[in-house]
Amino acid sequence: MSHNLPLVFLFFLYSLPLQASNQHERKPYIVYMGELPVGRTYAPEDHHQNLLATAIGDHRLARESKIHSYGKSFNGFVARLLPHEAEQLRKEENVVSVFPNTVNKLHTTRSWDFLGMPLKFQRHSIIESNIVVGVFDTGISLECPSFNDKGYGPPPPTWKGKCVTGANFTRCNKKVIGAKYFNLQNLEVSNLSPVDEEGHGTHTSSTAAGVAVKGASVYGVGAGTARGGVPNARIAMYKVCWSMSGCSDMDLMAAFDEAIADGVNVISVSLGGNPRPFFNDAVAIGSFHAMRRGILTSCSAGNSGPSTMTVENVAPWILTVAASSVDRQFTTVVALGNGKKAFGMSINTFTPGKTMYPLITGAQASNVSGDSNGNASACDYGSLSKGKVNGSIVYCLGTGNQEFVIKGLGGAGTIVGEAQHSDFSTATVIPAVYVDATTAGKTIDFYINSTKNAEAVIEKTITTRRAAPSVASFSSRGPQSIALNILKPDLSAPGVEILAGYTKLATLTGYPDDNRRYFYNILSGTSMACPHAAAAAAYVKSSHPHWSPAAIKSALMTTATSMKIKDDTAELGSGSGQINPVRALNPGLIYNISVDSYIAFLCKEGYNSTGIGILIGRKGFNCSTMKSPQGTDGINYPSMHTQIMSSNSTSNIYAIFYRNVTNVGLGNSIYKAKVVAPKGLSIQVIPDTLKFSGLNQELSFKVVVKGPPMPWGTRILAGSLEWNDSRYSVKSPIVVVNKPAL
Ligand SMILES: *[C@@H]1O[C@H](CO)[C@@H](O)[C@H](O)[C@H]1NC(C)=O
Ligand SMILES: *[C@@H]1O[C@H](CO)[C@@H](O)[C@H](O)[C@H]1NC(C)=O
Ligand SMILES: *[C@@H]1O[C@H](CO)[C@@H](O)[C@H](O)[C@H]1NC(C)=O
Ligand SMILES: *[C@@H]1O[C@H](CO)[C@@H](O)[C@H](O)[C@H]1NC(C)=O
Ligand SMILES: *[C@@H]1O[C@H](CO)[C@@H](O)[C@H](O)[C@H]1NC(C)=O
Ligand SMILES: *[C@@H]1O[C@H](CO)[C@@H](O)[C@H](O)[C@H]1NC(C)=O
Ligand SMILES: *[C@@H]1O[C@H](CO)[C@@H](O)[C@H](O)[C@H]1NC(C)=O
Ligand SMILES: *[C@@H]1O[C@H](CO)[C@@H](O)[C@H](O)[C@H]1NC(C)=O
Ligand SMILES: *[C@@H]1O[C@H](CO)[C@@H](O)[C@H](O)[C@H]1NC(C)=O
Ligand SMILES: *[C@@H]1O[C@H](CO)[C@@H](O)[C@H](O)[C@H]1NC(C)=O
Ligand SMILES: *[C@@H]1O[C@H](CO)[C@@H](O)[C@H](O)[C@H]1NC(C)=O
Repeated sequence: MSHNLPLVFLFFLYSLPLQASNQHERKPYIVYMGELPVGRTYAPEDHHQNLLATAIGDHRLARESKIHSYGKSFNGFVARLLPHEAEQLRKEENVVSVFPNTVNKLHTTRSWDFLGMPLKFQRHSIIESNIVVGVFDTGISLECPSFNDKGYGPPPPTWKGKCVTGANFTRCNKKVIGAKYFNLQNLEVSNLSPVDEEGHGTHTSSTAAGVAVKGASVYGVGAGTARGGVPNARIAMYKVCWSMSGCSDMDLMAAFDEAIADGVNVISVSLGGNPRPFFNDAVAIGSFHAMRRGILTSCSAGNSGPSTMTVENVAPWILTVAASSVDRQFTTVVALGNGKKAFGMSINTFTPGKTMYPLITGAQASNVSGDSNGNASACDYGSLSKGKVNGSIVYCLGTGNQEFVIKGLGGAGTIVGEAQHSDFSTATVIPAVYVDATTAGKTIDFYINSTKNAEAVIEKTITTRRAAPSVASFSSRGPQSIALNILKPDLSAPGVEILAGYTKLATLTGYPDDNRRYFYNILSGTSMACPHAAAAAAYVKSSHPHWSPAAIKSALMTTATSMKIKDDTAELGSGSGQINPVRALNPGLIYNISVDSYIAFLCKEGYNSTGIGILIGRKGFNCSTMKSPQGTDGINYPSMHTQIMSSNSTSNIYAIFYRNVTNVGLGNSIYKAKVVAPKGLSIQVIPDTLKFSGLNQELSFKVVVKGPPMPWGTRILAGSLEWNDSRYSVKSPIVVVNKPAL
């Protein structure tokens, strides 16, 4: 046992100068030690120091290597370690896991009215104003009008957070009641403060809880009222992402450690990294401790769609949010010299100065004397001639940095013909529009070919309507790779072309030589969807302050609107569907999950008993003492899912799901099971009627999912169960994935 090293040996190592020289080879690891020790007779810091000294074998080096101690909401520390030292700490009896610090990334690429939640909708304003939404992000720009605190009272009495000031951040207010930053590695940063120099954190915070701002727009584009989902709620910013270095695990864990202790009520995390086992995943660990204290964590699902198996932030206690479109879109019109019009996408804030500009293709603007290997049709860097581009609109093929190439050569604008037309718009640095190469692009190409002096003008972007909602192509899809029987993402929320707050420390496009700096911007990503769902959770919580995080999540999921099915992956893209916050206030029934049920689930998933024991602060805990959860997934989840791992499986039973529902609707009620099953799937609900005689009564049922062995070509079979008593409808998707066919 290493911590019983003889003193002499320790002393010997202490005097070895060699040890210090590999200080630079050490990498930061998180040593996670679960629940705080009860009774706390000693400072966790001292304990961490001793553990570390034992592993490293040198007290001085241990002190130098230690980066930070957690200890407000859970136990653990961060230190620079060599791999064998990490291995040694892993064996320590109070350690759940030891994992290298990884860097996570942000999930960016008139939404509330669309969700049926108009500003004037009945709200519990007083209760809502006692709700604090904790946002883990790039910081916040207090100057944005969305954070005006006019009319707000003092922070809720339960609030224990602080306002940390610093560079370009001098104060909080009654709207943004807390702000902290985490830079545990002391990396060189431009603004050591909670200020937002990227815009992302200001955008997500104002989406969750910004006040209503009339006439908000991006230089006139998208004009309307900008507001958050819970405009009366308060915001606490925990800055964990830095523009050069991303969002590291150690900073995220520190944010959870503090936010839970500060008294936030809901947490919104719009970032992620590769999925990993829960005990090695900073967001899974932090959100578990949050859940134990009644705080729901909403996370973005990732922007790696439309490929399947790309979803991130997949722990069952997390609300994993996909991005869907709203019924508004941005359209940019190109008027051609022949009177025809072509339609495309972009956020073009520029008003044309002339009625028409010369229009040429990249090929026509090619630098013939150039020695570049670039593709002029695609307007590659170095392939075009400045003289030809100057003052013209250039039609380019492909997707890339055409805007910047054309800007650099003094072009008047660019039209980009995309082979794979994107489904969202972003601000452009010069007048620009992205069109479908096979339709609008053809029209433009044909016009240029048929005319000697082609002309065009790119008009300022206008707002149009579209059929909605549908899952954004970029939104990450399931199935997940960690807990195979939990469907993720859980639901979707608006995440396409969202107008919300921004910072003046960044330009609209984020590029330094763009000179537009503004308090609002239009962004897309599951990053934008996550705070919508966090706000919806806060909204439900303000009506039902005592509901568990699982109950709130269940309410949001079972009342969501199923997504339009474009292909067979609707449920893998959006889970239960798009959130409907107003319906979620009265879900009728809920699928509740206790902390013990999550523990039993972790046992079933094969997590180490000793580790679970430390996680929950029950020394000597043994999974064999838990009642083993029944059924395929072993948890009372509001959706039902399994992955068939072998196509040639001869089994006819795919899954059995055991569920309990609690009546939160009306005392006496009779719910009938309505099943929708696709061909090849039989779904049986036993019993198929639930008779409740009182509120908070819990009844059990099971769902048996059968079918013939899945044919190779079938990727997904999706059905649903809806409990219906004619006043309430409580819906769960049932999704069987044929893993080898994906
Ligand atoms: C659980 O983890 C501890 C500490 O890492 C280890 O000693 C033990 O063997 C593990 N137990 C099982 C059942 O894997
Ligand atoms: C505030 O931000 C500006 C612009 O990014 C920067 O130049 C300046 O150094 C910052 N001020 C401080 C005190 O860091
Ligand atoms: C064209 O290419 C030549 C040779 O590489 C280069 O010297 C010249 O600057 C280029 N012209 C423009 C306008 O880019
Ligand atoms: C671009 O056009 C402007 C005016 O149209 C002219 O003044 C300038 O010299 C041109 N630049 C080049 C590189 O041709
Ligand atoms: C140039 O790029 C276009 C668009 O991506 C492509 O269709 C074309 O084949 C490319 N040409 C060459 C010579 O690579
Ligand atoms: C336009 O002309 C180019 C070059 O001759 C040709 O490659 C392209 O197919 C033509 N486009 C249309 C729409 O006719
Ligand atoms: C759900 O379970 C928790 C305990 O796990 C309990 O406190 C809560 O009252 C239950 N019901 C609801 C609606 O949250
Ligand atoms: C848990 O209990 C089982 C059965 O009683 C026993 O075999 C096992 O060793 C125990 N595991 C731990 C980690 O104590
Ligand atoms: C349903 O409730 C019963 C009784 O409390 C419990 O034994 C069972 O584990 C629960 N089932 C699920 C799936 O949570
Ligand atoms: C299923 O197919 C795999 C690989 O094709 C094969 O190894 C396995 O034996 C098959 N299983 C059955 C039950 O046929
Ligand atoms: C379920 O109940 C709703 C009312 O909440 C009702 O409008 C709907 O028609 C019912 N659905 C079915 C399938 O019976």
